Amino acid sequence: MCGIQGITARRSFRWKIVQWVVAALAYLDYRGYDSCGVAALVNGKWVWLKRVGDSAVLKSALSKTRWLSCLVLGHTRWATQGMVTDRNAHPHFSGHVAVVHNGNLTNADRLRTWLKGMGYVFLSETDTEAIAHLVHYYYQKIGNLRRAVQLAIKDLEGDYAILLASAMEPQVLVAARNNPPLLIGLGDGFNIVSSDARGIIALTRNIIYLVEGDVAEVTPEEVLIFNQRGRRVNRKIYVSLESLGALNKGRYSHFMQKEIHQQPQALRNTIQPVLQRGFSPTLFGKRARKIFGRLDSILIIACGTSYNAGCVMKRRIESVAEVPVRVEIATQYHPILSASPHELVVVISQSGETHDTKEAIKRARAAGHKYVLAICNVPESSIPRASSLIFYTQAGMEVGVASTKAFTAQLAALIILAYTIAKVKKRLSRTDETSALESLRKLPLAARRTLALEPEVQAWARCIVRRRSALFLGMGSFYPVAQEGALKLKEISYIHAEALAAGELKHGSLALVNKRFPVVVSAPSEEFLRDTVLGMKEVNARGGKLYVITDKASNLVASKNIRVIYLPKHDPLHAAVLQTILMQVLSYWAAVMLKRNVDKPRNLAKSVTVS
Ligand code: AGP
Repeated sequence: MCGIQGITARRSFRWKIVQWVVAALAYLDYRGYDSCGVAALVNGKWVWLKRVGDSAVLKSALSKTRWLSCLVLGHTRWATQGMVTDRNAHPHFSGHVAVVHNGNLTNADRLRTWLKGMGYVFLSETDTEAIAHLVHYYYQKIGNLRRAVQLAIKDLEGDYAILLASAMEPQVLVAARNNPPLLIGLGDGFNIVSSDARGIIALTRNIIYLVEGDVAEVTPEEVLIFNQRGRRVNRKIYVSLESLGALNKGRYSHFMQKEIHQQPQALRNTIQPVLQRGFSPTLFGKRARKIFGRLDSILIIACGTSYNAGCVMKRRIESVAEVPVRVEIATQYHPILSASPHELVVVISQSGETHDTKEAIKRARAAGHKYVLAICNVPESSIPRASSLIFYTQAGMEVGVASTKAFTAQLAALIILAYTIAKVKKRLSRTDETSALESLRKLPLAARRTLALEPEVQAWARCIVRRRSALFLGMGSFYPVAQEGALKLKEISYIHAEALAAGELKHGSLALVNKRFPVVVSAPSEEFLRDTVLGMKEVNARGGKLYVITDKASNLVASKNIRVIYLPKHDPLHAAVLQTILMQVLSYWAAVMLKRNVDKPRNLAKSVTVS
């Protein structure tokens, strides 16, 4: 996933456009920050700067430069093909043609061989450079950039969102989309093409979302959009409600720290509609009542942290709504059997742009699934716009690559889903409904009280950072809580971590345990405490260090190799959320103590829009 940004503007803007593009890249860094670059057409010639690092590197390198230009391309890269080097950073060029790309071409090698045979010289290892030469090849034949792009994309295989410009057409941007998102911002005297509304809303809120297969020809005065068949089409203009307010850390040292502490508010905002309207199916969409009433099973599909959210709430949904729930990793979901006619697909995605989840939705529909419910945190993103039902978590923009507030908001959303389905199916007594609503109302405060335990968790982090590996144990719904805890630790501190169902320990992984080995245990009194304690004893018998998150009702106590943190008094419905919050805090402080790039961990990106 990469960030694409381009502006074409009237001459009166020529002083500002380069700065506008570079400033926008800072909002797109979350999409990939291995390297970045900017190219501007100045006096009919391309000038450019490309650097390893995030857009701040570019901004400082350009601070002494004044390019007067009306046509500028910018890019932030997450490497897919080609090492992380200045040379492989975008934009890429072929004569008068410049291109930036988000995606992953599967036929790049074949194109490269053919283009080399046509006399083109490659300067980079990227698939993107092949696009530049291919468009240049067709431009030489046809003399028009948009039509050259329409011809070139017929030769491309794989995912691409591309933005091109030519020195021969100094006011034209041409964008083409096949899977990763591309948006057009409609300004007054300028127009923008970007991967994300965040790259646009500082300058205009009027946004067009290109659809799969669209090609757009953009000048300062006009936007022409052509569909897959090459026919002119009009696309709806949205007024974006996104806000950039989230893009400052305030009193926190990192976005992740801020977002961990925003969780009480994120939960409150997500739960608020239910407290006002009860478990109303209209919260999920107009057709939710009919779909929920007929469903006889649920298939949850997601990736990473969002997948863990589905796993955490699987049992809760089954016990409350009394329907079977299966949870699939998006890339693993390749159905063999046709879909059950009344199985509801629930996709969970913070960004709403995850390529693997989007592809899994296509496979679900091909298997016969009619309805898809999207639980998503980014309004207007691709996945909710392609779904039958939508529930937006109200966590607010999440900037830290490691998901925190969005995850616990997803848990709340799944709790709401469980009770709403139960209510529609008349499986929820009024008493249980009242009790569930009261419990949800108290959740934000319970989260705030849990965050007050941060200093105790910080002390744990000081011990764990000295180790190269850690084990996370949990049982039942708290095994995926342990999985999420392990994922958080490894993705921001780079300490290897794995999760295990506590009962599984003796079947092999116990061999890892010795007196220096840290084991973090999610041990709520609510679920399978006995089996969890047996696993703890096996660790303790071998001198392993235990870090146990539990509650007073478990009667677990600290001892020589066992450290214990007791969650504040809470409802059973809260336990998974509160346990997770402390695991997030543990990972955060481990990463800080190891001086990691907490908000932009190496090799990762916030939104994985490529396969
Ligand atoms: C979150 O901490 C992870 N960085 C990652 O696993 C993420 O959850 C996954 O890529 C799915 O993203 P999505 O929720 O935006 O679809």
